[in-house]
Amino acid sequence: MEALKKRVLVLHGPNLNLLGKREPEVYGTTTLENINAMLTGRAGELGLELVFIQSNYEGKLIDAIQQAPGNYACIIINPAAFTHYSIAVRDALAAVNVPAIEVHLSNIYRREEFRHHSVISPVAIGQIAGFGANSYLLALEAAANLIKSTKL
Ligand code: DQA
Repeated sequence: MEALKKRVLVLHGPNLNLLGKREPEVYGTTTLENINAMLTGRAGELGLELVFIQSNYEGKLIDAIQQAPGNYACIIINPAAFTHYSIAVRDALAAVNVPAIEVHLSNIYRREEFRHHSVISPVAIGQIAGFGANSYLLALEAAANLIKSTKL
């Protein structure tokens, strides 16, 4: 039980492997590796273990979500473009009894209208958007608090 309580799954959706080079004016210049390293550093201080998965494939993210129960206390997910239309990712999150925190680097509500709607938010505990790479660190703090306050 104690080990489970410490583990957080961090899921990065499509195109996030290109962070650093991809539309830096929108997403910043921090690479995904940098973000993961930052998260790992803070997780160590919080006594949490992180596992990272980036995939450009919906099914791979869904498989990871389905395997989360019993293995992870919390999921941090940036579903990227899947945010806006993947009922399959949403259904996977709804199917598992593992709290999920939705993350976006950009503030999706200040961008194109097609980004204003998230099909993921209704099945997430909450959403953090608009703080660049720092959105992930804020999500990690939220996950740590959630895990502390939950009886696992
Ligand atoms: C994103 C926002 C999405 O609209 C977009 O498709 C992404 C990244 C973000 O982190 O700001 O790929 O999730």
